[in-house]
Amino acid sequence: MELFPKSRNYQIIAIVSIILILELLSLRVEGSSQAKSISYPAINCRKHSAVLTDFGGVGDGKTSNTKVFNSAIANLSQLALDGGAQLIVPPGKWLTGSFNLTSHFTLYIHKDAILLASQDETEWPYLAVLPSYGRGRDGPGGRFSSLIFGTNLTDVVVTGDNGTIDGQGAAWWIKYRSNQLTITRPYLIEIMYSDYVQISNITLINSPSWNVHPVYCSNVLVQGLTIIAPIDSPNTDGINPDSCTNTKIEDCYIVSGDDCIAVKSGWDQYGIKFGMPTKHLIIRRLTCISPDSAAIALGSEMSGGIKDVRVEDIRAIDTQSGVRIKTAIGRGGYVKDIHVRRMRMETMKYVFWMTGSYGSHPDPNFDPKALPEITGINYRDMVAENVTYAARLDGIQNDPFSAICISNVKIGLTEKPQKLQWNCTDIQGVTSRVTPPACNLLPEKKDNDCFFPSDKLPIENVQLKTCFIA
Ligand SMILES: *[C@@H]1O[C@H](CO)[C@@H](O)[C@H](O)[C@H]1NC(C)=O
Ligand SMILES: *[C@@H]1O[C@H](CO)[C@@H](O)[C@H](O)[C@H]1NC(C)=O
Ligand SMILES: *[C@@H]1O[C@H](CO)[C@@H](O)[C@H](O)[C@H]1NC(C)=O
Ligand SMILES: *[C@@H]1O[C@H](CO)[C@@H](O)[C@H](O)[C@H]1NC(C)=O
Ligand SMILES: *[C@@H]1O[C@H](CO)[C@@H](O)[C@H](O)[C@H]1NC(C)=O
Ligand SMILES: *[C@@H]1O[C@H](CO)[C@@H](O)[C@H](O)[C@H]1NC(C)=O
Ligand SMILES: *[C@@H]1O[C@H](CO)[C@@H](O)[C@H](O)[C@H]1NC(C)=O
Repeated sequence: MELFPKSRNYQIIAIVSIILILELLSLRVEGSSQAKSISYPAINCRKHSAVLTDFGGVGDGKTSNTKVFNSAIANLSQLALDGGAQLIVPPGKWLTGSFNLTSHFTLYIHKDAILLASQDETEWPYLAVLPSYGRGRDGPGGRFSSLIFGTNLTDVVVTGDNGTIDGQGAAWWIKYRSNQLTITRPYLIEIMYSDYVQISNITLINSPSWNVHPVYCSNVLVQGLTIIAPIDSPNTDGINPDSCTNTKIEDCYIVSGDDCIAVKSGWDQYGIKFGMPTKHLIIRRLTCISPDSAAIALGSEMSGGIKDVRVEDIRAIDTQSGVRIKTAIGRGGYVKDIHVRRMRMETMKYVFWMTGSYGSHPDPNFDPKALPEITGINYRDMVAENVTYAARLDGIQNDPFSAICISNVKIGLTEKPQKLQWNCTDIQGVTSRVTPPACNLLPEKKDNDCFFPSDKLPIENVQLKTCFIA
């Protein structure tokens, strides 16, 4: 009689234990599956996490969240030295004007979240003009702060599982076209004077002007961006690395009204004086559609110099030119050690374009004796189809563009091709295995492969960590 209750007790204990174990297991499975569904790679993970709604955010697409973003980030900036913080923008439509980022901080935009840029100018504070430009791009006065702005930061991440930033640019384009603006239009993301910057896996649409502008930065990673603007929208450049060192841009898809990527470094006398080059830049696996502009432009603002640029695996479709170098008398500076390989192009006006007479000066006080140095330009292993002109290479009189090398490039022409396929003035260099054959200024050098560096840039060795959202 006594054994039964005892064994029953054991049975109960056993059943309860099994239930507990199962529960624990299921908790674990839940925990890990949840972690799996929201994990992301980043230069750094954060100890603290908050959601925009913790700070009173309203995602109805109508209520302004400008103050909420600014106060949330100001609050979380207190945690910078205690492991940093991530701010999650959850599903919803979050109307906002410009706000500032902080150091050791991640802004994570959920895939069902849309940041809607306010069209109310009072939501956009002014910033001083950039010292390397001396004035705003649109007007001589100041600039509207970009939607997401950061300056003097270290270790800052803007990412998401393809969440969206909608610049609602149409109102700005109208004001710009009808000369109603004295202040330069805002960009979507601008990070200045910062080290370790990551912008990845988000979609940017309808920017008022440029989309992503890292300026005076080092160690910049841009990955997995989708950037879309109408092909006739004004100055909607995709990504503009400007006076930055050690930058990697990869796996981006860009449709825009201006250059998909525009590498820059300051404008005429202001850029020369500021003297900060863009160097050690790699751009790869880019798809570009830009009927009125270039897949990759170098300049026209290049007065601080552009050097050591590596570009590979680029696809351009219905784009005005493949790689374009833009400069002018008065720019000074240099564009040198440029290496491009493996481009595929379909429906292009020009495959190669170099312009030594690009106008647009900040003011009449530029130095007419400041000549740019364009040298060491290497293009290899490319195929293009349905092309109007193979190349228009237009150097500067008494300042020829030199050491140009083009090898293994096959260019298929449109049905009614132009007679002069290679229009060259004031340039020097060589070609090898190029069809149609190049101009006399680029004579054939037998079996020559243009140089492409085999070493890695420091930014290519930065390992990303796997971060989680609880
Ligand atoms: C902001 O940070 C402080 C700690 O400094 C905290 O006590 C407070 O609750 C935070 N505010 C909000 C709205 O979370
Ligand atoms: C954002 O940063 C800019 C530049 O430092 C500054 O002028 C502005 O006041 C900041 N805005 C806020 C809301 O802190
Ligand atoms: C940011 O850094 C630049 C360059 O070091 C410096 O000139 C400027 O004063 C700094 N600005 C702020 C707000 O700290
Ligand atoms: C991100 O969203 C854009 C726009 O909806 C879409 O075109 C693109 O394919 C998406 N990218 C990824 C990796 O899902
Ligand atoms: C971006 O998303 C892709 C998957 O869509 C992932 O492979 C990649 O690691 C992500 N990169 C970053 C830097 O967020
Ligand atoms: C070829 O290019 C012309 C413009 O020069 C364009 O109108 C036409 O659609 C293109 N053809 C193809 C097959 O892409
Ligand atoms: C060749 O280029 C020059 C500018 O360098 C231009 O003025 C000229 O019209 C071009 N010729 C043709 C036939 O396209």
